[in-house]
Amino acid sequence: MEMNIALLPGDGIGPEVIAQAVKVVKAVGKKFGHTINFEEGVVGATAIDQTGDPYPDATHEVCLRADAVLFGAIGDPKYDNDPKAKVRPEQGLLAMRKKLGLFANVRPTFTFPSLVHKSPLKLERVEGVDFVFFRELTGGVYFGEPRGRNEQGTKAFDTNVYTKEEISRLARMGFEAAQKRRKILTCVDKANVLATSRLWRETVQELAPEYPDVKVEYEFVDAVAMRLIQWPKAYDVLITENLFGDILTDEASVISGSMGLMPSASVGTENKLFEPIHGSYPQAAGKDIANPLATVLSAAMMFEYAFDMKAEAQAISDVVNKSLAEGIVTEDIAEGGKAYKTSEVGDWLAENL
Ligand code: IPM
Ligand code: MN
Repeated sequence: MEMNIALLPGDGIGPEVIAQAVKVVKAVGKKFGHTINFEEGVVGATAIDQTGDPYPDATHEVCLRADAVLFGAIGDPKYDNDPKAKVRPEQGLLAMRKKLGLFANVRPTFTFPSLVHKSPLKLERVEGVDFVFFRELTGGVYFGEPRGRNEQGTKAFDTNVYTKEEISRLARMGFEAAQKRRKILTCVDKANVLATSRLWRETVQELAPEYPDVKVEYEFVDAVAMRLIQWPKAYDVLITENLFGDILTDEASVISGSMGLMPSASVGTENKLFEPIHGSYPQAAGKDIANPLATVLSAAMMFEYAFDMKAEAQAISDVVNKSLAEGIVTEDIAEGGKAYKTSEVGDWLAENL
């Protein structure tokens, strides 16, 4: 098969980790006989420096032309301490999600047998954890209007808005995923306080009869924040709005051991984008020390979700597990053993696939 992949390395460690994923994707192409074409685009602080726009039209065109987008990270500290900065790298990410219609962010948490002891949780709580968040990505308080300040600048406001349609398309993805998994769907909301959350609950209740094999649970977001660390094994598929999902998926991403490990997919009706959960880690940029596994595993998700190629995805996760078992790892998980460079891990994965 011929596959066209857009590469958006972005900022910080983005280019380094994307380079490793590209090595692995090329190796998969060779092994399974696929022709893989890459086209690059700029996004984030890098794009602001070059064009003044964090998500230039030229980059959008690159994404539209591709079958799937592989994205690194966005963010640069030079913008973080300037709350008045007019353009921010993060706007590039939000614009990209909105323009590509990527309304569902799929963020799994699973464990690696050789790393569970690095989890901040006790072994019996973390062993065998396997759940996935479906975070709504193009609505809610991230995009709702009105937003801004009053004239005197003494009052600021954001608006949380959801339509039934936005909720149901996300919820359906969650239901369908649950049907293929352990058949438990948790709707995470704050229906005891928020009108938007009550619409979430109502919409999910209306859809539930269409998925009679799925057990639906409704939980308040504050309780989920607690139960995620108390007994994460209880969860299978969780669906939630944009802001709750942003917060809870960061919490979830460290359960399995290291921040640098978890992949994600952002999907819509037309387009699909794959990216590591971690950020741009500017302190490590250019040092060849960042863990490339989250991005490599995002490429595995790409094969599965964008191309329905399960064997290819499995081959990647197998070689990742093998690298962990054999200690071919970057310094964040080396634990006193030999720490390999980002590029060395990428080379090893490509050679051993
Ligand atoms: C994420 C990030 C983004 C978000 C930021 C960078 C805009 O934290 O992908 O989770 O809040 O969605
Ligand atoms: Mn986040």
